[in-house]
Amino acid sequence: MTGRCLCLGLTTLALLRCLPLVYLDPCGLSIVPKEPAVAFRGHVVLNCSSTCSTLAHLGWETSVPKVTNEGPGWASLHISSLAVWDLEPQCYVTSTNIIEKARLHVYRFSHPEIHLGAEMVAGRQEQITCNVSSLVSGSSPSDINVTLSSGGSTLSESRGSPAVGYSFVAQPTQHGQEIVCQAWLRVGPQVLNDSTRATLQVWALPHSVKISVEQLEFGVGANFTVRCSAEGNPLPELLWDLPSNASVELSDRRRTVTVHSAQRAHSGTYQCLAQNRYGASSGHVNISIVEQRHGIMIVVAVLGVISVLGGAGLWLVRRRFMKS
Ligand SMILES: *[C@@H]1O[C@H](CO)[C@@H](O)[C@H](O)[C@H]1NC(C)=O
Ligand SMILES: *[C@@H]1O[C@H](CO)[C@@H](O)[C@H](O)[C@H]1NC(C)=O
Ligand SMILES: *[C@@H]1O[C@H](CO)[C@@H](O)[C@H](O)[C@H]1NC(C)=O
Ligand SMILES: *[C@@H]1O[C@H](CO)[C@@H](O)[C@H](O)[C@H]1NC(C)=O
Ligand SMILES: *[C@@H]1O[C@H](CO)[C@@H](O)[C@H](O)[C@H]1NC(C)=O
Ligand SMILES: *[C@@H]1O[C@H](CO)[C@@H](O)[C@H](O)[C@H]1NC(C)=O
Ligand SMILES: *[C@@H]1O[C@H](CO)[C@@H](O)[C@H](O)[C@H]1NC(C)=O
Repeated sequence: MTGRCLCLGLTTLALLRCLPLVYLDPCGLSIVPKEPAVAFRGHVVLNCSSTCSTLAHLGWETSVPKVTNEGPGWASLHISSLAVWDLEPQCYVTSTNIIEKARLHVYRFSHPEIHLGAEMVAGRQEQITCNVSSLVSGSSPSDINVTLSSGGSTLSESRGSPAVGYSFVAQPTQHGQEIVCQAWLRVGPQVLNDSTRATLQVWALPHSVKISVEQLEFGVGANFTVRCSAEGNPLPELLWDLPSNASVELSDRRRTVTVHSAQRAHSGTYQCLAQNRYGASSGHVNISIVEQRHGIMIVVAVLGVISVLGGAGLWLVRRRFMKS
């Protein structure tokens, strides 16, 4: 069918009244779908129908094995495994020279492949690449775009090339992050897309080793605990270097050292060494154990606080009496 314009005059006003006039071809053929994208070794069905007034018989001609089906005014062509790159099946009306050629766009489009490299370690320069392979009949090189993205934001895009790369300094926080590689391929009038996902694994050497203890000085006989924490991936193992191992207890997967009844020998450096297969890091604290005099001073201080509180209490009681 063709749209024709019948104009009633040549003035601009008359042109506005220009109306499309649709008329039927005496005998035309149309093929649906119009320009299909067909995967190499894929399946395609084409349906040819005629606008012929007489119920003319339709047929298909093609060089590959086919199955056809027909009904009044139409004939369909089924190709189950298309193994030809430039096929032009023809639909015809028997005993006439009316034909219509189908335009097939044959393509091959692989899944995008993400390459993460061997092992990513935080702080190191790392690279992610993604590539796709494609082939499109009558279009060489292919019109293809590939992008790498994460959490909805684009990291890198290829702009016309079948491969894309992204270089970055790995961060510990990227562990577990999902990377998406998306590819778009133009096949005739259509744009096909495909995507692949991968999860980042970013290992990290031990860092942020922190040691905590209530105070740096204890009296002889006191009990105290020293705690160590460290970050890293995998989680670091902890080792201690202590001034004395006597009456020392390690607990909570060696994160806590408890010293029972401290002696002078417990004075010194408490060093915590965090290590995993990527390296080690350490932290320390110096603790001194001093003679008991402190204990007496604490008792004096506590008595002082009690007497102050007592005074305040008496004052409150007195205020109440005066009010009532
Ligand atoms: C082909 O198209 C005609 C209409 O034009 C429809 O009646 C017929 O069912 C279609 N055949 C197939 C196999 O899709
Ligand atoms: C991606 O590139 C690698 C190395 O160049 C290659 O071995 C692989 O086949 C490519 N993958 C695709 C889907 O093209
Ligand atoms: C690829 O990207 C370019 C520019 O961004 C665009 O013009 C083109 O249509 C894209 N091609 C495909 C197949 O998406
Ligand atoms: C990818 O293709 C599918 C059809 O296969 C379509 O529904 C979807 O919108 C496309 N996605 C993008 C991002 O183009
Ligand atoms: C220290 O802990 C022990 C039990 O492990 C307890 O018997 C002792 O009274 C504690 N000493 C102090 C000063 O709190
Ligand atoms: C404590 O024990 C560890 C082994 O368990 C040892 O390597 C270290 O030298 C000991 N430290 C002291 C002060 O005895
Ligand atoms: C702890 O003691 C060691 C050895 O006496 C010394 O080298 C280090 O500087 C001290 N560290 C702190 C934090 O005082």
